[in-house]
Amino acid sequence: MNSELIEEITILPGRNRQGNPENFDKITIKPGNTISIVGPTGSGKSAFINDIEIFAENDTVTGRTVLVNGRCPPEEYVRDPAKKPVALITQNTKCLTDMEVSEFLEMHIRSRQIETPGVLKKTIDLANEFTGEKILPDIKMTSLSGGQTRSLMIADAIVISNAPILILDEIENAGIFKDKVIEMLKEYKKALLFVTHDPLVALMSDRRIVMKNGAVEAVLQPNGTEREALEKVVELDSILCRMREEIRAGQLIRIPALT
Ligand SMILES: Nc1ncnc2c1ncn2[C@@H]1O[C@H](COP(=O)(O)OP(=O)(O)OP(=O)(O)O)[C@@H](O)[C@H]1O
Ligand SMILES: [Mg+2]
Repeated sequence: MNSELIEEITILPGRNRQGNPENFDKITIKPGNTISIVGPTGSGKSAFINDIEIFAENDTVTGRTVLVNGRCPPEEYVRDPAKKPVALITQNTKCLTDMEVSEFLEMHIRSRQIETPGVLKKTIDLANEFTGEKILPDIKMTSLSGGQTRSLMIADAIVISNAPILILDEIENAGIFKDKVIEMLKEYKKALLFVTHDPLVALMSDRRIVMKNGAVEAVLQPNGTEREALEKVVELDSILCRMREEIRAGQLIRIPALT
């Protein structure tokens, strides 16, 4: 089974914190799906995506099982970083290497034996779509900001690792354009899971998994019923983005500028 051929992954229910069975039949994720995971602190959001990242086989605290194309995935998915189809990016994702961005990417391109020309530029260009602070090829990896690092890791996962599934755990206010990430991942036909409290991201997702007490409490599929709310959030978000830019630029905010 090659990582490019993932048609769907299936999550089978486990148990909540008290050991009671979870109340869903199965959750299926396909390329191009965008799913947000919501719920209060400690409700099991990170545990849920951890199950997906390591392809749980009833061997984690939650007792969930994750299948690929309806079957248990091959060992190498878990063991071999080059075959791993899931890229997890968190608030703490850092890259501690003294290399320049271009050296780092070239190394990764070589190790994946990619010979298509222009991959390095494509990766940096994509990363620069996700962040307002331009990443230059000759910058040291260690001097990238948090937002630049996360943007580069997302672009690297899409273009070089070619991972079909991306998971972003709480990268709110992380200096990246989340709506742009969602848009590009849909375009690249990747599955995207987002642990988030951000209304824009939550409403832009196709489905919302609600966590409570260590278990999946509900899977919401708005099917267009939230369209008006989404329009409102998009409008509010653009006001907030503009305000943020103005504050950053040291300006005073005037109300007429908001409308
Ligand atoms: N079904 C479960 N059974 C037993 N323990 C669980 C279960 N789900 C989660 N836990 C444990 O509960 C703790 C909190 O879960 P987790 O870290 O996933 O919450 P979270 O929703 O990500 O919280 P935060 O918003 O603070 O990041 C963890 O130690 C986790 O291992
Ligand atoms: Mg968490």
